[in-house]
Amino acid sequence: MKILLSVVAGLFLVLTGGAAYADSGRVASAAEASAEKRLLGRKLFFDMTLSEPAGQACASCHLPAAGFADPDAELPVSRGVNPRHFGNRNTPTAAYAAFAPAFHFDQKEGLYLGGFFHDGRAATLEAQAKGPLLNPLEMGNASAAAVIEKVERADYAPLFKSVYGPDAFADVARAYDHLADAIASFERSEFFSPFSAKYDAYLRGQVELTPQEKRGLDLFENEKKGNCAACHPSEKGEDGSHPLFTDFSYDNLGVPKLKQSPFYHVDKRFNREGAGVVDLGLGGVLNKASENGKFKVPTLRNVAVTGPYMHNGFFNTLEEVLDFYNTRDTDRKWPAPEVAANVNDEEMGDLNLSREELQDLIAFLNTLTDGYRLGD
Ligand code: HEC
Ligand code: HEC
Repeated sequence: MKILLSVVAGLFLVLTGGAAYADSGRVASAAEASAEKRLLGRKLFFDMTLSEPAGQACASCHLPAAGFADPDAELPVSRGVNPRHFGNRNTPTAAYAAFAPAFHFDQKEGLYLGGFFHDGRAATLEAQAKGPLLNPLEMGNASAAAVIEKVERADYAPLFKSVYGPDAFADVARAYDHLADAIASFERSEFFSPFSAKYDAYLRGQVELTPQEKRGLDLFENEKKGNCAACHPSEKGEDGSHPLFTDFSYDNLGVPKLKQSPFYHVDKRFNREGAGVVDLGLGGVLNKASENGKFKVPTLRNVAVTGPYMHNGFFNTLEEVLDFYNTRDTDRKWPAPEVAANVNDEEMGDLNLSREELQDLIAFLNTLTDGYRLGD
């Protein structure tokens, strides 16, 4: 896995041609400046020396070849750089994340919208990027100063100064802001959001969906059938923008507790309640019972390659996810929801879809994987 990561990172550097940042003493144009910043963000995102100890990069858990999610599909949650450490949540894709609006309460809708992480606790992409490096269960650095020391030693330190000025490292808090700014600008690049799935080619009129994929799309959008598009919008925006398959709202789907989560067995310092711990999601962040159990609607782009699924990795396959949407409120007998309050029982739970219809939906979800080539 590690070897793969460095090969992948190396390849991207070749593709971007190393850029012209060594040319100091010259004021970069705005376009050059942003290209330099993205390149810096790329270096930071793939740098496995930024963890403590070295060995884990952002890309280790958000691997491009794994839909920008954790390549280890065996684990419901991710392992930290310390192999005995596990986080409490499934790694979401970092692709298309940049499109989320900053976390806010929408007065008109009367809903919380946007933000980053499953529970929206980081308002912006920049704020999000500062988290994992200092999370003891992830990249494990003791302080921002410890991270910045590593960046100063990295071979791309001159690039950091070229982008943020000769005094870029002088103040740790500012340098850490710069680091987050560079990573976020890389995450906003096309590399993370290529819109190159078969469904995108279909929307551009370049390819037809197969009859099964088309039936799946119809079920996905039909309010009386799947009703998926109510939260995972599939149509272009009025301004012609690409569909993102999330409306950035929060919902409690009544996902059960994952009894075998490795997070329940981490050191007591990180989880005092062991297996009894309850993940309140957005409600925990806001300290607001009416939001308990709610998690951000994820994009479904690349969903076929980013299992396991849901905030706690409860489901291993799309078949299981759809079985749950279809039969949660029937006599199929699912385990109780982790948080019983606020469960959405209006838009899901008893969809009455046949086995064939579920297969059609999955065929459609498979058209959302990036990297489709015409003729495939
Ligand atoms: C050990 C695995 C791991 C590492 C390393 C890691 N992440 Fe994550 N990432 C996660 C998990 C797990 C979440 C969800 C956490 C939560 O909701 O509490 C997440 C969430 C995110 C999100 C939010 C996506 C969304 O839709 O809200 C982004 C963006 C992201 N990570 C980028 C990064 C960046 C940038 C780095 C490096 C600075 C990084 N990650 C390092 C596991 C990891
Ligand atoms: C009321 C809003 C809503 C509707 C309707 C809805 N979803 Fe979701 N979906 C969510 C939320 C919220 C999550 C994340 C929940 C969590 O992590 O606990 C989610 C998660 C998922 C996931 C897991 C994605 C991942 O990366 O973990 C899949 C797959 C999915 N939905 C597909 C569908 C399909 C297919 C339909 C229609 C049958 C559908 N959804 C209908 C809100 C909705």
